[in-house]
Amino acid sequence: MRHRKVKNLEPRIEACRHYLVPDAKTKKGNWRGYFGAAPDSRLYLELGCGKGKFLCAHATADPDARFIGIEGLDAVMVRGLERAEEENIANIRFVMDFVADITDYFADGELDGIYLNFSDPWPKPRHEKRRFTYGKTLLKYRQILKPEGFVAFKTDNEELFDYSMGEIERLDLCIREMSRDLHRSDYEAKAFTTEYEEKFHDRGKNINYVKFTYPTE
Ligand SMILES: C[S@@+](CC[C@H](N)C(=O)[O-])C[C@H]1O[C@@H](n2cnc3c(N)ncnc32)[C@H](O)[C@@H]1O
Repeated sequence: MRHRKVKNLEPRIEACRHYLVPDAKTKKGNWRGYFGAAPDSRLYLELGCGKGKFLCAHATADPDARFIGIEGLDAVMVRGLERAEEENIANIRFVMDFVADITDYFADGELDGIYLNFSDPWPKPRHEKRRFTYGKTLLKYRQILKPEGFVAFKTDNEELFDYSMGEIERLDLCIREMSRDLHRSDYEAKAFTTEYEEKFHDRGKNINYVKFTYPTE
């Protein structure tokens, strides 16, 4: 989505264009090839990556893996592009799209992990299908993940977290890590914070966190 009110947005994006993936759906099934990475390299996605702080930190800490951030708002994503450029991060790319169906972008078993951070809560019942943790969407993640692949989800929003845990339990998914107060836990996930996470954590708000995998029959 275009935000014409942000100053110099077009030239700012243009200056970092090599971090932006054009026609991302055409990369489906060939993301590792697109990165010039080995077929057995690890590939991670953050859906709704905002300004890219979390993803850039992960990519820097794990240079052997590849990271894709998808964000629908160009005025937000431009900060991720600029951060990657400033820090000269080689193993990261961004997709500027509002995703309707994530299976349009990734082939079966293509991803090692999916990060959902502070996803929009869509509190109205009639918008349930738009939540990133809606049951049918969780099953789409299963399709594009390797059998042992994970989903990691963080949110400040208690209602969204309760709802998401309900969906995870209803589908009999395998909870690997869970905390209603991530930053008072020992989980490694607290080391990589997002912009929203910092804001809420600084205000003393607890951060909810769950990491789950899918049953392998
Ligand atoms: C609340 S923000 C969180 C941003 C970041 N993950 C963080 O924790 O700081 C949610 C982001 O998801 C993006 N978003 C929401 N729905 C999306 C979709 N369907 N496809 C891509 N991005 C989406 C929004 O534009 C927004 O920037």
